[in-house]
Amino acid sequence: MNKEALRKFWYKMSPQHRFLIRRLYYLPIDLKDKILGKRHKYVPPRGLIYTGSPADAEAYLNQGERQLDILKAHISLQPTDAVLDIGSGIGRTAIALTSYLNTQGQYEGFDVVKLGVDWCNSGIAKDFPNFKFTYVPLHNDLYNTKSEDAENFTFPYNDNTFDKVFSFSVFTHMQVDEIQNYFKEIKRVLKPNGLAFSTFFIYDNDNEAHISTTNSFKFPIKKEGFRLMDETVTSGNIAIHKDKLEHMLASEQLEMTNFIDGFWKDKSKYYSPTASYQDMVVFKPKSH
Ligand SMILES: C[S@@+](CC[C@H](N)C(=O)[O-])C[C@H]1O[C@@H](n2cnc3c(N)ncnc32)[C@H](O)[C@@H]1O
Repeated sequence: MNKEALRKFWYKMSPQHRFLIRRLYYLPIDLKDKILGKRHKYVPPRGLIYTGSPADAEAYLNQGERQLDILKAHISLQPTDAVLDIGSGIGRTAIALTSYLNTQGQYEGFDVVKLGVDWCNSGIAKDFPNFKFTYVPLHNDLYNTKSEDAENFTFPYNDNTFDKVFSFSVFTHMQVDEIQNYFKEIKRVLKPNGLAFSTFFIYDNDNEAHISTTNSFKFPIKKEGFRLMDETVTSGNIAIHKDKLEHMLASEQLEMTNFIDGFWKDKSKYYSPTASYQDMVVFKPKSH
């Protein structure tokens, strides 16, 4: 079965079935790792890593370190920063941050999957009192069957709380109206001189034809200013037109200050040692 057919088959299952199958599929290798002492205290077994390609502990820690390097490079993350990790998943970025943020720094993360939040609270948050993970039961057709709406969700934090707000691979799995609301909330909880960083799949008129037809990772379903990979699981993967993204940011008095193309669009054209697979966007409150 090729990758595309496998993805279609995977999307046909309910989120619960996907969690169960992943757990069972990786059970033998997870048990082997446990017996050989290859597990890390904060890294979940592969069968629990629902947030991307399941990796062994070493690879998972390296992925988190790479995310930390990106935050240092693009939003000048400081050890004393108060940070918000939207879609904190199962702790990939947070683990790396435990050895970077000092006791004056503050980490908050939230996610719509309870399993991930519980995992992080039973490990990282126990050892690092300045790390807190919050479960928010919002609907996402890739990850759960909850009914509450991310489009009207108010982040559970006060105004002007964070120096930095970031999300890795979250706005690639949300609908545009939900993302619009999250931009509004980011603006509210960021300090006026704060910075935000998020990854996306972003296209423009020059590469739209490629990413919708010929690319191996393609978005064939066209909507108003965005494209979907699959009509049944709309949060499976979403790509947004760059003009629409800029318009969405501007509507919340936010402005894009840096855009780094990801090589998902076309490796031969966009690959460089500092590029990531997804597009990276730095944005901040508009200065008056
Ligand atoms: C691909 S995973 C990335 C997780 C994490 N950021 C990382 O890099 O490992 C996407 C995450 O977004 C979360 N998510 C989806 N919809 C969300 C929403 N409306 N609000 C917050 N998190 C959401 C998912 O549950 C999942 O943990």
